[in-house]
Amino acid sequence: MLIQRLQISHIRNLSRASLPRLNRINVFCGINGSGKTSLLEALHLLIMGKSFRHAMVRPVLQEGEAECTVFAELSTSAGRLTLGAQRYRDGSKPLLKINGAPANALSELVELVPMQVLSADSFELILGGPGFRREFLDRGLFHVEPKFYPVWRLAQRALKQRNSLLRHGKISTDQIILWSREYARYGEEIDRMRRHYLDNLLPACHAVIAQLSPDAMVGLEATYSRGWSKDVALEHALIAGIEKDLQQGFTRQGPHRADLKIMIDEGTAAETLSRGQLKILAAGFHLAQTNLLHAKTGKKSILLVDDLSAELDRSHRQSLCSALEDSGLQVFVTSVEPEDLANCWSNTNDVEMFHVERGHITPLSEITQGN
Ligand SMILES: Nc1ncnc2c1ncn2[C@@H]1O[C@H](COP(=O)(O)OP(=O)(O)OP(=O)(O)O)[C@@H](O)[C@H]1O
Ligand SMILES: [Mg+2]
Repeated sequence: MLIQRLQISHIRNLSRASLPRLNRINVFCGINGSGKTSLLEALHLLIMGKSFRHAMVRPVLQEGEAECTVFAELSTSAGRLTLGAQRYRDGSKPLLKINGAPANALSELVELVPMQVLSADSFELILGGPGFRREFLDRGLFHVEPKFYPVWRLAQRALKQRNSLLRHGKISTDQIILWSREYARYGEEIDRMRRHYLDNLLPACHAVIAQLSPDAMVGLEATYSRGWSKDVALEHALIAGIEKDLQQGFTRQGPHRADLKIMIDEGTAAETLSRGQLKILAAGFHLAQTNLLHAKTGKKSILLVDDLSAELDRSHRQSLCSALEDSGLQVFVTSVEPEDLANCWSNTNDVEMFHVERGHITPLSEITQGN
């Protein structure tokens, strides 16, 4: 899977950008505010339906414009594929097209082209609350376990119903028991799938992190806690907890309270690690997830790495670039200074460098030829 051609209009300061020849590794360099992250946001908007920085389309849409468009042409093992997305300021339904035909749901696109982002927000995987880690796990599961998404939706529905009854207080306990059973049924399944997924993901993480930073993360441990007591079935925990849940007005136990505790020796990784080490750790988790997806399904993700050089010394920049190269995935990388990444690639035939300036994107090769 390779995005070969990309056209963007009206995303932030990118009025019109046309990239007719993309490579496996694409590096975008330019000064602050030139439009590098905007380009990654455009790719994310196309595949995931929104920017990775904002949930709403409004901040991403160029000021004064009513709509934005992203179009990509991809080569896949099954042949040529085109994807198009158009989003509107007035809130009209987004237009999505796969090979020229309207796509029924965004999940079609997400399933077709898995995408992984490493940006300043990726620190949240370690520094943020449990919700970030659950979302990370569930996103990985969505791609490798076909049963996960339908079960997750049924669990969400049951949890919503149960919480709504709890909030309204004095309704028959029978109804709450009914929805407790329903939530327990799917919640146990989610927990089983998450644990199975982690059995594969965690060794993969250790392997990638050892490659990225051989010495720094000795003693790294990740422990999953499922969101309710180890010794009881979820159904039992939920029914036994109804009184207290009624007092609190929400469901206190279940897979929606699960977490992955990431520790270095005795301390939490969040408290122990430096910024650069945190970045390496987050990169390790993301790369392990994409490698696992590839191993399990043959699907190749697209990786977006925003500001790769930030926080990293030369040796860690080099090892992250090598890991990206070894992954065999298509990568879109941004960096302020081209020199920071200039000598980090072993096969320069796979690398295309672009210069970004005030919303204009030009391949470096064209600039050099022009001189
Ligand atoms: N809705 C918008 N319409 C037009 N321009 C916008 C909009 N939102 C942001 N911009 C501008 O787009 C420019 C590019 O922002 P972007 O985040 O892509 O820069 P960058 O190259 O990633 O910079 P940095 O190196 O600081 O990360 C900024 O100058 C910003 O002011
Ligand atoms: Mg940026």
